[in-house]
Amino acid sequence: MKPRQICDGVQWVGVVDWNRRLFDSLIPLPDGTSYNAYLVQGSEKTALLDTVDPAAKDVLMRRLANIDRIDYLVSHHVEQDHSGTIPVILEKYGQSVVVCSPKAAPMLVEHLGIASERIKTVEDGETLSLGSKTLRFVHTPWVHWPETMVTHLPEDRILFSCDFFGSHLATSDLYAGSDPSVLEAAKRYYAEIMMPFRKVIQNNLKKVGALEFDLIAPSHGPIYDQPKGIVAAYADWVSDRVSNLVVLPYISMHGSTETMVNYLAESLAELGVKVQKFDLSSTDIGKLAMALVDAATIVIGTPTVHVGPHPNVFYATHLANALRPKLRYAAIIGSYGWGTKAAEQITGLIPNLKVEVLGTVLSKGFPTAEVFSALDALADTIRDKHASI
Ligand SMILES: Cc1cc2nc3c(=O)[nH]c(=O)nc-3n(C[C@H](O)[C@H](O)[C@H](O)COP(=O)(O)O)c2cc1C
Ligand SMILES: [Fe+2]
Ligand SMILES: [Fe+2]
Repeated sequence: MKPRQICDGVQWVGVVDWNRRLFDSLIPLPDGTSYNAYLVQGSEKTALLDTVDPAAKDVLMRRLANIDRIDYLVSHHVEQDHSGTIPVILEKYGQSVVVCSPKAAPMLVEHLGIASERIKTVEDGETLSLGSKTLRFVHTPWVHWPETMVTHLPEDRILFSCDFFGSHLATSDLYAGSDPSVLEAAKRYYAEIMMPFRKVIQNNLKKVGALEFDLIAPSHGPIYDQPKGIVAAYADWVSDRVSNLVVLPYISMHGSTETMVNYLAESLAELGVKVQKFDLSSTDIGKLAMALVDAATIVIGTPTVHVGPHPNVFYATHLANALRPKLRYAAIIGSYGWGTKAAEQITGLIPNLKVEVLGTVLSKGFPTAEVFSALDALADTIRDKHASI
């Protein structure tokens, strides 16, 4: 359980969690994750940047077995996957002081019971000298809690970004290189965790973009040794640009809604509109979130179940509303048997989505020729709207 060297005086002391399959009791982790902590040793002082999930604390402590002194424990983010082992570090290293943003200080007391006299707050842009190395703290709120900050190490040109730019990916590689699976995992991470704060992240990107770095060392996933790629990807994801894509989450109990969904998807494809369908009885909700990162339109397909939408559709719609994707248009399609409020209820679930609702196509029972022509008309409308994006 040795540290892994990044450069002279900077070491990775994190934990790779290969087997974890769910994060925040919500987010699927198809590829596991990691909790990255970093040790920075200057000529006079030593700092530990973040800790690890409490379940992995023994591994962190074994990596630090030969480290006699930690002066500063930088807490970028109070969420327990990074702060959860702070109490253990404070106990072992009696002289150490937690360094965090002013917003994080009371949260560390509230969430982890840390004694306030062991906390030192730092302002935006403040520096802390370790002797031969300097830590510069940059406040980056809402990536992804209000208290988050990042650390710049100018001497070694490293940006320690915590959740910002992270990816849930277990790998033995310390560096991302040009592995496309890292960008894919980072997009999933952005979609699930960061997307609701897209507008704030635009500012944070400008802020960190002004710093000089050759490495971005996040707290989840490998270190970016070609950081331009991930910064450009974030710039694209947080931009106002949408793509010619319809995301079609749906469910169907007896095939009527599914027939409508398949028909609409084919009509759209024939008109040159890309479609991604998600069967909500089995889909990985993270893939749906990823598709929402730049889609122009969402079409929700649901049968009516006890007057409203199917519960899985209710859940997915609520989630899409919470994630605040930059969608511009929406439509609802589906089937019912005798009486429905499904469309009204779905519309009521999406106040955060600043979308133009392009229409509702509901079929009583299995879709008829009339329903199929209504779906053709909806496809035409979507194509026309997408022509101007
Ligand atoms: C558990 C259950 C509850 C239902 N509740 C309603 C309802 O409240 N109102 C209604 O119009 N139809 C209701 N239906 C009928 C379905 O909406 C109808 O069969 C529809 O065509 C199913 O679409 P599907 O083939 O896409 O599953 C219900 C069906 C089931 C199985
Ligand atoms: Fe977090
Ligand atoms: Fe995290």
